[in-house]
Amino acid sequence: MMLNAQQLIAQTADFVRDKFLNEGSGHDWAHIRRVWHVARALAQQTPEADPVVTELGALLHDVADWKFHDGDEEAGPRAARLWLESQQADEGIIERVEAIIREISFKGLGVATPMSTVEGELVQDADRLDAIGAIGVARAFAYGGHKGRPLHDPAVPPITHDSFESYKQNTAPTINHFYEKLLHLRGRLNTPAARRVAEERHHFMEQFLEQFLREWDSTDVSTH
Ligand code: ADP
Ligand code: NI
Repeated sequence: MMLNAQQLIAQTADFVRDKFLNEGSGHDWAHIRRVWHVARALAQQTPEADPVVTELGALLHDVADWKFHDGDEEAGPRAARLWLESQQADEGIIERVEAIIREISFKGLGVATPMSTVEGELVQDADRLDAIGAIGVARAFAYGGHKGRPLHDPAVPPITHDSFESYKQNTAPTINHFYEKLLHLRGRLNTPAARRVAEERHHFMEQFLEQFLREWDSTDVSTH
């Protein structure tokens, strides 16, 4: 049976929630739920955006991330298509959701990641807002822990990745991730509304790093 748009969104939310409920790498259902709600709010302020494509794109954006599928960048679009076809979604909607998933990821500081649709711009902004601020800090260390990486190593310099291949192969300590990505996201947002939210979150990360590095060297402890 062909579902109406609201039913399709609700079914998709249930599908994704069941899939991600026990995920511990930072790609959990709570992340996806936040991206969904933020993207939906951005769509409400963007008359030219199709709310259904925006919501489906947000719900499915991490459905089969290349980072957890041997670097296969088509795993996500393929999984989204299979799900949406099983729900008899329109081909036009499926194609636009596939494009969002294909284009959304950060691919290294030296690699441009333009979105071909306005809906994609909103989902990318929502995803990037969730990678900064207090939640962003927590997710970075959750990801690093999941991969068994050290918190920090002052001997490892920050690297600017000029290709997606180099970014994919990166295994640096988690603090490096702030310099190779997180501190740059504020400047790589698509919408003014997202840029406004990013200000406070960015400032919080800068303060976090300052304090982290002070404690790393114990310079906040007086010795005498
Ligand atoms: P995006 O969807 O913006 O491309 P990712 O899917 O790359 O984000 O990352 C998901 C989460 O994992 C984010 O919070 C991100 O900052 C974090 N993450 C990704 N790569 C690393 C890394 N090398 N070290 C620490 N955290 C990482
Ligand atoms: Ni995401």
